[in-house]
Amino acid sequence: MSDQASNPTPLRTGIPASGLDLRCVGAHPDYWYPVAWSDELKRGRALGRRFAGQPVVLYRGGSGQVFALEDRCAHRQVPLHLGVVCGDELKCHYHGWTYDGDGQCVDVPYLGKERLPNGVRSYPAREIDGLIFIFPGDPVLAENRLPGPLGSSQRKDYKTRRLNREVACHYTFMHENLFDMNHQFMHRKQMGSIRARCIGRQHGEHWAQVEYTFSRTEGKPSVGERVIVDLIRKRKQPAKHFSDHMRIRTDYPSQSLRVWVGRDIDASQDPVLDVWLCYTPLDGEQRSNRTFGYLSVKKPPIPGLIHAVWPFVVWFTDNIFREDQDIVEYEQRAHDAQGADWNNEIFPAIRDLRDVLARSGRPMSRGGADRT
Ligand code: FES
Ligand SMILES: [Fe+2]
Repeated sequence: MSDQASNPTPLRTGIPASGLDLRCVGAHPDYWYPVAWSDELKRGRALGRRFAGQPVVLYRGGSGQVFALEDRCAHRQVPLHLGVVCGDELKCHYHGWTYDGDGQCVDVPYLGKERLPNGVRSYPAREIDGLIFIFPGDPVLAENRLPGPLGSSQRKDYKTRRLNREVACHYTFMHENLFDMNHQFMHRKQMGSIRARCIGRQHGEHWAQVEYTFSRTEGKPSVGERVIVDLIRKRKQPAKHFSDHMRIRTDYPSQSLRVWVGRDIDASQDPVLDVWLCYTPLDGEQRSNRTFGYLSVKKPPIPGLIHAVWPFVVWFTDNIFREDQDIVEYEQRAHDAQGADWNNEIFPAIRDLRDVLARSGRPMSRGGADRT
């Protein structure tokens, strides 16, 4: 056999229609991104965060309102999150230059108010369902692009846990990982042998959706899985022959996963599992992200049962997410070693998704700067 035949040139079947390397497409700044949990930011306190390499200081003023400014004093560039919150203003730790919530410099203690220098950039900031979001792009667009409710996280008939972890990969790997349920094999220790079957896909300009049913081919469900899908739904079918319906959807830039019991979705029925996720890029090259999310499980009718089994749910989902984190970080390292996206993506739903992500994001040049 010739070298050519034994080592064929890989087919690059997953390149988005645009021809872009998806890992060089930045998260588009004209959307809202979560940067902190509301309860991480107490009144009168400041917090330093990042969005795609931009340092951002969040502070909660005396009124309780959250403000977001560039985390860099206009004077000598030190982080403003070291400073002191005074009313609804933030005073730099070094010489006390003071900024209001719009980033205007409103006081330089040793100069007087008549010779005030330029201030710093401000970002629209909003608290939604326990998360602090900022809008890093054109502020004119912010109001019309506010996210809706974050899954079922605020509903009393669901029990909800937070998902919160820093992952060393481009945010697009996160979208693809969740979207592609053909990777259940990797979770075999947690889930046993589950087979996902794609039963439909749809997409639009800035969204993509895929639906699956599942069946168990062998083995038994783990405790955590049994809790989420067997116990809560009081499944009549033996665990061997179940059939559930999962819908995963990217609504740029966030993602959701919902599971209904039974083969067909009854729109009047609540999902038994409702997950909302958003991946906020951290560094300038967007090689890392913070995943913020809520995982909500519909409470079973027996009072207190959900609380009794909750530690198993947390343990089970932590294991699953840890496996996912490990593999997407491997993907990122492979991309970095190869210097390009060599993925051979053959699953049509993922190709739809990759096109949505390429279309919705903003190309970066290597090194992390926006090309536009
Ligand atoms: S560096 Fe901020 S006031 Fe001087
Ligand atoms: Fe997974």
